[in-house]
Amino acid sequence: NFTPGAFVEEIVAEMQEKIQGDKVVLGLSGGVDSTVAAVLLNKAIGSQLYCIFVNNGLLRKNEFENVLNQYKGMGLNVKGVDASERFLSELAGVDDPETKRKIIGRVFIEVFDDEAHLIEDVKWLAQGTIYPDVIESVSVKGPSATIKSHHNVGGLPDFMKLKIAEPLRMLFKDEVRRVGATLGIDPELLGRHPFPGPGLSIRILGDITPEKVRILQEVDAVFINGLKEHGLYDKVWQAGAILLPVNSVGVMGDERTYEKVVALRAVESTDGMTADWVHLPYDFLMKISNEIINKVKGVNRVVYDISSKPPATIEWE
Ligand code: XMP
Repeated sequence: NFTPGAFVEEIVAEMQEKIQGDKVVLGLSGGVDSTVAAVLLNKAIGSQLYCIFVNNGLLRKNEFENVLNQYKGMGLNVKGVDASERFLSELAGVDDPETKRKIIGRVFIEVFDDEAHLIEDVKWLAQGTIYPDVIESVSVKGPSATIKSHHNVGGLPDFMKLKIAEPLRMLFKDEVRRVGATLGIDPELLGRHPFPGPGLSIRILGDITPEKVRILQEVDAVFINGLKEHGLYDKVWQAGAILLPVNSVGVMGDERTYEKVVALRAVESTDGMTADWVHLPYDFLMKISNEIINKVKGVNRVVYDISSKPPATIEWE
């Protein structure tokens, strides 16, 4: 029977024993796993822990600033690195989903490696790897925002030659949340929906431009805030919006418009392997659709995805 308090005591002692006086670098993603790993290590080794949080320009609206402030408020030694422009310029003109993922994975590693180099004499790389990641070993769809340790040796960025510390590697997701709660992490942060490492890039079908990112961030914010306001957020496993590469005709006043279509997706799932679309109330969908069309310039039509997985995946790319 898993006891979060006992786990914290044991793992803190284990990490102190292992790491001693060394410096440790850790990549924060804003997600539950990397956050809990950071707070645990902060408890174990304090200022020897150096956290790096990279903005790839594909996060949710205001996410980088909000989460960075939250991290600082938690007493973490964290550096925010805004590499948005670099990511977006490397992605310009790319429309293939797997190519997008590869570019984002590569640029992330480059940015992280540069930052890790700035920490003098760092010896360890800490990761928020949890038990299901250990079993899966290789992520099906390419690199996520956290760095996985199972890369081939040789030609590695320098930080990957570091020793690895993975305090959560024996835990399941619900256990990680319970540990997080024991450590006093904000329940809202612990209850966050999963969010893919490549972020909004795989929810903008086709090529990515800063304008498309802006539109999708606005749409997504209306949807996610709406779910929270209506008490629906915690009933959904994952939700988000997708910007479709089509324009549709609409009317506004006496004018015809020819603007973007967005799809909303909300699913129930336990592990993301299978998923059912959520029967969100019609009244809620009506309200959100109106709000999106009224507020977000460039969008004149909203559709709701009623496909389950399989065969439809959760993400559209
Ligand atoms: P799919 O679309 O395969 O998604 O049904 C299952 C879960 O995985 C997330 N996902 C990703 N996460 N990098 C990630 O870190 C990726 O490239 C990626 N692709 C999908 C997706 O958001 C869902 O939670």
